[in-house]
Amino acid sequence: MNAGVLGIGRYVPEKVVTNLDLEKVMDTSDEWIRTRTGIQERRIAADNEDTSDLAYKAAVEALHKANVEAEDIDMIIVATVTPDQPFPTVSCMLQEKLGAKKAASFDVSAACAGFMYGMITAKQFIETNAYKHILVVGVEKLSKITDWDDRNTAVLFGDGAGAVVMGPVSEGRGILSFELGSDGTGGKHLYQNELDHIVMNGREVFKFAVRQMGESAVNVIEKAGLTKEDVDFLVPHQANIRIMEAARQRLDLPEEKMSKTIQYYGNTSAASIPISIVHELEAGKIQDDDLIVMVGFGGGLTWGAIAIRWGK
Ligand code: UT7
Repeated sequence: MNAGVLGIGRYVPEKVVTNLDLEKVMDTSDEWIRTRTGIQERRIAADNEDTSDLAYKAAVEALHKANVEAEDIDMIIVATVTPDQPFPTVSCMLQEKLGAKKAASFDVSAACAGFMYGMITAKQFIETNAYKHILVVGVEKLSKITDWDDRNTAVLFGDGAGAVVMGPVSEGRGILSFELGSDGTGGKHLYQNELDHIVMNGREVFKFAVRQMGESAVNVIEKAGLTKEDVDFLVPHQANIRIMEAARQRLDLPEEKMSKTIQYYGNTSAASIPISIVHELEAGKIQDDDLIVMVGFGGGLTWGAIAIRWGK
């Protein structure tokens, strides 16, 4: 029996900040941001809207789509590096907001690979029959740790949330294989400093990401006993269009078989993969029985990939 996705939801804040808006407040240009990253605009949460609020809205949609009641959730896993506060966790706040009375709750911190870590953790509990319904949320309010005086990073990030309800699915569907990894020696390239701001050596992270995304994607395909030709759709972490393109080319996939939502949302870290999947489901690009490869990487350094046969 495989664990799979019973329902998925997302929420992005209303406020849109375009590259042109950023041009007015810092030394940057729409042309630089678009050509170097693929980003055109991003969503920024309101002051009174914190990480748990974003998570709640995505979770409600996922539960509705899964047709699962909050009381029937056994566990809540929230992947985030921007919790409302260090503790209580966002997952506990979410448990209260949802009224998910019987759920055990904890947060996972693996930066932009966090959603992969969360889904793969949930898979273990489901496939050992310990739990039936697990809510996994990837959520960030990166705007609160963005250094708005640093053009190297400020133009990249956005706020948002994506959530899945996971549970047992029918034969042949669900998670077929996964890979997780980390390399703490690269932690110095992407971290939160003493002022609570994001600091990044973009070129180093870029090199790591290009290598790791392609490698992890190829590995999960092989682990599932499949070949590149079997892949219907690639959902890479949306950090930079040039990194995503390198992964796509490594899999010899045509452009239309890769999710590209970075232009609308920027880099939403742990939220980027589920936000992208909802976007592509709405666009009709992901269908039941499609073989989807998701792959993420982030600060830590961390990475994770999943091959999943979509549908219940
Ligand atoms: O989610 C996980 C994490 N993050 C990533 O995946 C990020 C990975 N890295 C990247 O995406 C890219 O390295 C960046 C988009 C961050 C930077 O692109 P790049 O092509 O590596 O640019 P660079 O850092 O080599 O900088 C090139 C130039 C520099 O000017 P000089 O020194 O050549 O005169 C920068 O100062 O671009 C300048 N620059 C900017 N110019 C206008 C850097 N940021 C900006 C900006 N607007 N926002």
